[in-house]
Amino acid sequence: MIELRSVHKRLGTRQILAGLDLEVPNGTNFVLMGPSGTGKSVTLKHVIGMMRPDQGTVRVDGQDVPSMDRAQLMALRKRMGYLFQNAALINWLTVFENVALPLREHGRLPKAELQDRVHEVLRLVGMDHAAAQYPPSISGGMRLRCGLARALVTKPEYVLYDEPNAGLDPIMSHQIHELIVEVRDSLGVTGLIVTHSRACALHCGDRIGILQEGRLALTGTADEVRHSNHPLAKAFLGGGSD
Ligand SMILES: Nc1ncnc2c1ncn2[C@@H]1O[C@H](COP(=O)(O)OP(=O)(O)OP(=O)(O)O)[C@@H](O)[C@H]1O
Ligand SMILES: [Mg+2]
Repeated sequence: MIELRSVHKRLGTRQILAGLDLEVPNGTNFVLMGPSGTGKSVTLKHVIGMMRPDQGTVRVDGQDVPSMDRAQLMALRKRMGYLFQNAALINWLTVFENVALPLREHGRLPKAELQDRVHEVLRLVGMDHAAAQYPPSISGGMRLRCGLARALVTKPEYVLYDEPNAGLDPIMSHQIHELIVEVRDSLGVTGLIVTHSRACALHCGDRIGILQEGRLALTGTADEVRHSNHPLAKAFLGGGSD
């Protein structure tokens, strides 16, 4: 379980998180929505230990993330995949090598096993044909799928998805949503998904929370939030939005 309690975080002069409470039970997907710049990516960085709260607690499976030492953080990151916003691939490594990175960081798999695993996960996201290409020469949607493959390659128990369908066409988006659901259902992965997409939220989210002014302005099951009269629910999940 991912558990944030009363998390506060100031960056520069701005109070970004101000008492954020959020929990994601194991085997479920939580969708985090909210206006740009409200701290969604910052929230994910707290979960994976790239940022520490000024106040409050961040726990994964009951373990306190901010107090982890380097070795513990490495162990956590082995169990937690992270699809960065805009994929954040390394331009001078091929698609194959980008996806292989977490496997190389976290242990010594025999070469054949590593190759099998990377190709398997590239096939899962429909990118195996591009294994030898470099990120600058592929489309934004392909880069995103490569980032997704990299997030999944270690067979993590948790996956943080930062805008998994940004810039994808509707057909590809739908495939990614199905993949996120499949990853939850067949592998039991616990997901925390940041998205601006109504389709993504309703397809993938067991629960949805909308962040505003540093905390969740509303949270509930996908159905509850969809039918809520809260203006933010209407703005993010109303019929007119994507
Ligand atoms: N390392 C940092 N140092 C200083 N300020 C930061 C840092 N990271 C993020 N911020 C600021 O924190 C705020 C929240 O950023 P964040 O990236 O979490 O927004 P977001 O909700 O993910 O927005 P978007 O939907 O545009 O991706 C922004 O004002 C951003 O400029
Ligand atoms: Mg963001």
